[in-house]
Amino acid sequence: MSEPQRIALTVNGAARAGHAEPRKLLVDFLREDLGLTGTHVGCEHGICGACTILVNGEATRACLMLAVQADGAELLTVEGLATDGRLHPLQEAFREHHGVQCGFCTPGMLLTAYDLLRVNPSPTEQDVRAGLSAVLCRCTGYQGIVEAVAAAAERIRGARGTPA
Ligand code: FES
Ligand code: FES
Repeated sequence: MSEPQRIALTVNGAARAGHAEPRKLLVDFLREDLGLTGTHVGCEHGICGACTILVNGEATRACLMLAVQADGAELLTVEGLATDGRLHPLQEAFREHHGVQCGFCTPGMLLTAYDLLRVNPSPTEQDVRAGLSAVLCRCTGYQGIVEAVAAAAERIRGARGTPA
């Protein structure tokens, strides 16, 4: 059965729908059918992490999932991080700490960091390095990214009034 299947899901808080062949990858569905090109495609086989998004709240590689498997799911992509025209604290911190060079890994880094801070709001440097180890960056040497995630964690805790 290779006819396109209807897929209805929630992406960045909005109801979206489309049709995809059963073997179409979720990352391709996002980019080609929903026009959400912020999610990048690198290796296409689960190694580089560039395609990382949140599916039902958990960091997921969109190149390892079929679009049809996301039917009914709730997704967060990099396009959904900013709210009301304001960058997410992670995006602000990546900019301030030079966590971005070419930007290819950045969407996956941001969503992976988002998931890390959801689970561990006060990570040590080692926690950040371990948490981000699933995403490859060929440009930055990682130092700026690690500093950015630590700074964002502090900012988010401050906004919530949560102690370190
Ligand atoms: S494109 Fe999905 S992990 Fe590399
Ligand atoms: S900024 Fe270029 S791959 Fe990470």
